[in-house]
Amino acid sequence: MGNIIKVQKGTKDILPQEMGLWYTMEDNARRIFTNAGYGEIRTPIFEATELFARGVGDTTDIVNKEMYTFEKSERSLTLRPENTAGVVRAFIENGMHRLSAPVKLWYKGPMFRYERPQAGRQRQFHQVGVEMFGIKDATADAEVIELAVSYLKSLGLNDLEVEINSLGCPNCRENFKTELKKVLKPYFNDLCEDCQNRYEKNPLRLLDCKVDSCKAIFEKPDVKSVIYGDFICEDCAEHFNQLKSYLDALGIKYTVNKLLVRGLDYYNRTVFEIKSNNLGSQNAVCGGGRYDSLVRNLGGVDTPAIGFAMGMERLYSLLQKKEPEKLTAYVVSTNQTEALKTVKYLRDNNISTDFDFAGKKFTKQMEKASKIAKFAVILGEDEIANKTVSIKNLETSHQVTVPQAELLNNL
Ligand code: HAM
Repeated sequence: MGNIIKVQKGTKDILPQEMGLWYTMEDNARRIFTNAGYGEIRTPIFEATELFARGVGDTTDIVNKEMYTFEKSERSLTLRPENTAGVVRAFIENGMHRLSAPVKLWYKGPMFRYERPQAGRQRQFHQVGVEMFGIKDATADAEVIELAVSYLKSLGLNDLEVEINSLGCPNCRENFKTELKKVLKPYFNDLCEDCQNRYEKNPLRLLDCKVDSCKAIFEKPDVKSVIYGDFICEDCAEHFNQLKSYLDALGIKYTVNKLLVRGLDYYNRTVFEIKSNNLGSQNAVCGGGRYDSLVRNLGGVDTPAIGFAMGMERLYSLLQKKEPEKLTAYVVSTNQTEALKTVKYLRDNNISTDFDFAGKKFTKQMEKASKIAKFAVILGEDEIANKTVSIKNLETSHQVTVPQAELLNNL
């Protein structure tokens, strides 16, 4: 027998028993995004390397260290590390700027980054995301954040933290970078090696450094006053205030995190992340923001845009940790014909229901009911004879007997 060939580091098989949650993630995405007017787009898994170098930015870790790049017929190709650049390419190439704004697209599929694998971080992972083109107003930012929250809620994920920040426009950001470099200069030798490189190439990226000694420098009063000062210009501040007031009106809780800068270069103004406390260090389930210059930078007609992507493996692990949803009803009966009829009747009325196929003893059926359902729907001999049904609330143990016609009203 030859050597066994194993799955590659940082990649995984998704097995049949895991498919249920994957279908739920995909079905909910399709339902919720379609309902908000987003059409699905499927772009190729590999693209010209240049698309990502110009799109994501050639000072980012993603482009510098993490791309799977290969040559074919003297062309440099790259497995997509994310999908915003590809969607923008498709937007331009298919003349979608001629469609009436907003143009709303959503996608799902595998992405590839050559990262050091750890819990929640893979080399092949999946994203589900949306991109909206053509609207510069903060209403678009509010809709996109609301959509992300609604999608997570549809999966039963409620206790997540929404963080927002504004990176300003190229003008005000340049001033900020200059100020930041000035105040950090005396501390340059104490910065970690990565930050020393970022200092020249991409000073904004210093802010989300996870190294303790760097974090301590950002806490120094002089540095802090630059980071937490209001550097963004009046227009950008107005846009950010609008967004906050829309989120308040929508009842979406958020915190402003001035250190939130994101790992891709195309953003301006709004950036956001949604984080969970249940995921360890790789805690972001969703990342996104506005990228008003990207369409123009990739050769298209100047078009503002905003979007987000979520890591599906991270969603999966949150969903797995959740208690399984209980059924609404479990039909308990010693008469299998009555049980089958009642189960069908409840399911026809969209009530999740099951029963004991083998017709075990009454007490065994009740035990099972209390494990997996909220209500036991009991059809004993008396009930069947009197055309009634007993309904036991399995949390409170409260039980009522009502005419069968009133079953639905009592669940
Ligand atoms: P991103 O923050 O790089 O943004 O990725 C979005 C999400 O993908 C992350 O929050 C995380 O859940 C997941 N993710 C990223 N890398 C990995 C990995 N190695 N393993 C597992 N999950 C991962 C983007 O990709 C942007 N394109 C989002 C966007 C869309 N911005 C505007 N439109």
